[in-house]
Amino acid sequence: MNISPFTLCTNKKLIFKPGSIEYIATELKFYGDNTVIITGGKSLSAGGKLEKIEKSLKDCGISFSLFQVSDEPSPELIDEITEQLRGRAIDSIAAIGGGSVIDTGKAVSAMLREEGSICDFLEGIGTRTTSGDKLPFIAVPTTAGTGSEATYNAVISRVGENGFKKSLRNQNYVPEIAIIDPELYAGAPASVAASSGMDALAQLIESYLSTKSTFYTDLMLPGAIEAVFEALPIVTADKDDEEICDEVCSDAWEKMAYGAYISGLALANCGYCIVHGMAGAVGGFYKAPHGVICGALLAEGMKQTLNRLEKEDPDSPALLKAAKLGHIFAKSEDMLPKEARARFIQMLESLTESLGIPKLSKFGINEDSLQKIADASSNKNSPAVFEKNEIIEILRNRL
Ligand SMILES: [Fe+2]
Repeated sequence: MNISPFTLCTNKKLIFKPGSIEYIATELKFYGDNTVIITGGKSLSAGGKLEKIEKSLKDCGISFSLFQVSDEPSPELIDEITEQLRGRAIDSIAAIGGGSVIDTGKAVSAMLREEGSICDFLEGIGTRTTSGDKLPFIAVPTTAGTGSEATYNAVISRVGENGFKKSLRNQNYVPEIAIIDPELYAGAPASVAASSGMDALAQLIESYLSTKSTFYTDLMLPGAIEAVFEALPIVTADKDDEEICDEVCSDAWEKMAYGAYISGLALANCGYCIVHGMAGAVGGFYKAPHGVICGALLAEGMKQTLNRLEKEDPDSPALLKAAKLGHIFAKSEDMLPKEARARFIQMLESLTESLGIPKLSKFGINEDSLQKIADASSNKNSPAVFEKNEIIEILRNRL
C-alpha cells in the first residue's frame, strides 16, 4: 500500500450544516462590500429563500448585482456576464444553484481576471493558458450532482452539430468557500434528484476505479458511494410515501449532499473513466441532462470495464474495488470476488431501472450517431482502454 504520491486541491473552507445558507453574508463580508450573486432563479425565488439572502446581504452592508441564469453555461453567456461586470469594483462572487450555476460563477470569477473570450482558454478549443488569478468565489449548491463546489474546472457547453462540452480549468479555481446546506436540496423534483444523483454516483464510482485514484481518495470513496446508493431511492421516492418520514428524508439529503461533494473532490483529484468520457461527447451533440446520460451509461460502462479487466488484467486494483462495492451494495461479505462484481453491476442496473433513467434513444441518438460520439469520446483514466468500435458497442447497448 503506497500513500504517496498525491496532490489535494480543495476549498479553503467547507461549511456543511442544515441551515448554513444563513452564513453567506458574513462569509462574503470578509472579502469586501461589493459582490455578485448568480442563481438559477426559480426554486430559490419561489421558496422566498432568495429574498432572505438579499435581506441578509443588505443587513451586512453588502451591495450586490444579481444574475439569474438557466441551462448549462455557453461561452456567449460567460462572455456576456463578464463584459457587463468588467471595470466595476467587485470583491467577490457567489453562486447559489445547481452545477450549471456554480460553473457559471466559477468561470466568471476567473474570466474577470483575464482579457478576451473564454473560448481562448477552453481546453481543446483555445490556445491561451489561464493565469490562475481569480476573484474570491463562494459556491452554494442546491442540487446533489456535479460536485462543482469542490472542483477546479467549469464545464462550458455549446450544443449542436459542432457542439462541445469543454472545461475552463486551473487548480486555483476551486471555490474558496463551499457552503453546503442540505435543506436547500430537499424539495427537488424526483426527476432532477434522480438525474443529478446518478451523475454523483457515476463520478464517485469512476473516481474510485480511476487509474489516478489515490490512497487519500480511496479512504473517502467507498463510504460516499454507499451513502448515495442508499439515499438515492429515498430522495426520489413518491412524496406521499408514508414510510419515508421527514427525518429519514432529511438524513437522506445529507447523504446526497455529502456524496455529491466528495464526488467533486474526487474528480478534481483523480479524474473519471469511460462513462464521463462518453457522456461529455454525447452532451456536446445532444441536449440531454448530463446526469441522465451518465445514468444511462453507468452500469454498461462499468460492466464492459470489468469484463475487459477480468480477461486482460486480472490483477487490476479496480477489480478488487468493484468487488468491495458489490459487498457494500449487497450488505454481504459472503461472496467470492467475481460474484460480488456481478452483484455490483446487477444492483447498478436495478437502480437505473427503478429511477426511470431513460435510454439514449430518447434524446434522438440512434445508430447513425454512434461513430461521431465515439470519435469525440475519450477513455479518461479508465483502467480498461477501449477502442472506438468498442465504445460504439457500449453506446449501442444503451440505445
Ligand atoms: Fe458529471
